[in-house]
Amino acid sequence: MTVILFCRTAIAGIIPSPQSRTFCNGYFTLDPRTAISADTASAPLAIYLQEYLPIMGFCGQLFTAQAIVMQVDPELAEEAYRLSVQPERIEITGGGYGGVFNGIQTLFQLLPSDVYAKQLQLPVKIACQKIEDAPRYSYRGQHLDVARTWMDESRVKRYIDFISYHKINKLHFHLTDDEGWRIEIRSHPELATIGGFRGGDSPIRAIYGKWDEKYGGYFTQDEIKELIAYAAIRNVEIIPEIDLPGHSRTIARIHPEILCNYTPDTAPSNGYDERSAWCVAREENYALLEDILTEVCELFPSKYIHIGGDEVQMEQWMRCPDCRALMQREGMSDPAQLQRLFMTRMMAILEKNGKYPAVWNEAIRGGQLPQQSRVHGWENLKACREATSQGYRTVVMPGEYFYFDMRQSAHEPGHNWAAIFDARKVYSFDPASLGFTAAEIKHIEGFEGAFWSEIPVSQHPETPDYTDYMLFPRVCALAERCWNENPPAWEEFYRTLTGSHYDRMSAMGIRFRLSPPAVSFRDGVLQAGTDDGSALFYRLETDSVWSPYQGPIRTDHPERYLFESRKGSGQSPEVGAPQFYRTIQPPVRITSSMPAGSKSPFARAEQYKAFARTTRTCRPGDWVLFSFDNPVRCREIFVQTGYLQLPRLIFNSGYAEVSYDGQNFEQAGALEQGSITIRPEGCPVYAIRITATCPDNGSSSVIIQPLRIKP
Ligand code: ACM
Ligand code: ZN
Repeated sequence: MTVILFCRTAIAGIIPSPQSRTFCNGYFTLDPRTAISADTASAPLAIYLQEYLPIMGFCGQLFTAQAIVMQVDPELAEEAYRLSVQPERIEITGGGYGGVFNGIQTLFQLLPSDVYAKQLQLPVKIACQKIEDAPRYSYRGQHLDVARTWMDESRVKRYIDFISYHKINKLHFHLTDDEGWRIEIRSHPELATIGGFRGGDSPIRAIYGKWDEKYGGYFTQDEIKELIAYAAIRNVEIIPEIDLPGHSRTIARIHPEILCNYTPDTAPSNGYDERSAWCVAREENYALLEDILTEVCELFPSKYIHIGGDEVQMEQWMRCPDCRALMQREGMSDPAQLQRLFMTRMMAILEKNGKYPAVWNEAIRGGQLPQQSRVHGWENLKACREATSQGYRTVVMPGEYFYFDMRQSAHEPGHNWAAIFDARKVYSFDPASLGFTAAEIKHIEGFEGAFWSEIPVSQHPETPDYTDYMLFPRVCALAERCWNENPPAWEEFYRTLTGSHYDRMSAMGIRFRLSPPAVSFRDGVLQAGTDDGSALFYRLETDSVWSPYQGPIRTDHPERYLFESRKGSGQSPEVGAPQFYRTIQPPVRITSSMPAGSKSPFARAEQYKAFARTTRTCRPGDWVLFSFDNPVRCREIFVQTGYLQLPRLIFNSGYAEVSYDGQNFEQAGALEQGSITIRPEGCPVYAIRITATCPDNGSSSVIIQPLRIKP
């Protein structure tokens, strides 16, 4: 006798939530004697499952009394599945391999979260139920930029695990860029052996991150094969990207002959040729490109190969007599047409190798591309609609919703040029309500999250914590949106996230982000709270030790407190009351031993509250002096040169001094990554001076950020 219980809240325990779930009477007891049965198509998944479940193991077609039975039923769509938990057996039936894999992921979410840590204690009772499920989109993607921040095989495998637990099935693998070449090309080994390492004595300059140290790595083709196989077991297809014809500075440093036919002005970059676009007119370039792409096509089983097409600096072509002559011969008026010509030639190479092209959205602007081209819309919603409205199969990933290198709130690390957003905004992404027409929606192949890695390389490239923090739980929201056209309300999703999925992610080992605690200050009382069951801590901004938050804090100085929360391996950002973030802009004059730049002179920096620029890089002994018109009393002054991710525009090393009387200077400490926080504790500050101790950065300028002064 089966009792059908169907209610939405019961479904909410699984991310992404299944299409239908009905409960029945009874339990299946998973114990060490449980066997696994799999048909031929699902056989690799029996081995996969055994890694996670300490049970008897793979028994081929043998049905024992207690078994997990996996099979393919071609009547179902490829990635659809049925999961049936009965007292004697669990049946996972998928339309294809991917369907069975998806069913396993749902089964994992019916188990205690320890399953992800491969530490499940048996026996475990699972309520009898039937789940029928299928994804909304066949393309559910996550992008990973291993060009800017080198991430080795174990790290990439870790991300494949994480995304596959969320039924994400495409890894867009960004392998080459201006700052690194990460894939062995056997016919041109120098591309990886030189281009995989930048900084130090490498011809590739460290635009981002580590400067003096030669830093990096690359994947051999054997390692790539291993990654492809690892991903395939997890129903993840790796789609490689060789970013062309722009973003090619690395290869251009190794093969400068690929560049356009003119001598660039390298004075601003101290002799460094920063050009990054392949010359379209140089015929020999196509032989090298064919060598590269042919190897890539042979290596990756994916039908699509991403060949870039974004942010090409076409002014390089316009300065090139050969490119201009080519445009004239072809009757072209717009360099975007030149890009189309280049892309068309790349596509011919792909076609010869049985592949289809994937491109960034700018690539469609020079004229029609083959209709089977897959277009990744990234610039904004309009660019995504432009691709869908022209009938291209489109991966929708506008930066303002899906670029997970963007910061998640105003005071957290990350970029902000596309938007500042957290998982809730990702979760809100609905093409229909964002203006896509029904015809445009038909051409959406799926969604993709992006992780560009300029920032982590400058901070802690050796640990994955930052990447985890930026990706999760935004990837969870992406997964739900890719899977379901009508997902549960955010509140319900958030209940599942906090009630179950945080524990799962902790067991997975993800250092995910918790929502910031809510902090308020009223009538002398500072209060903080969370809505996710996490433990709250606080500290004084001058003290690094956190204490458990026991309740409201009575204080006259709410601006001095910081709060954070923790749950499992999740951590919130540090947050304060609004008073904590308040800054002042007292009149200040900037002078320096380095001449001021003409574009961003020191004199105006104070007025326009933007950065100032010098006309040359710093050398040992160079200084910048900030003099206040009136002495400033404040608790904190933050001095920063450059941007964290751009080491060549900072004082790489140096120290700061403070004058409390307008005449004498006291040591205030060493600069770290070009910055320092000075705490005058209310003493009047007349001036601050920073002095460089680093050798020439090889760059054209130093950037001086406005002082951040907290009253
Ligand atoms: C991109 O973000 N340049 C595709
Ligand atoms: Zn050219």
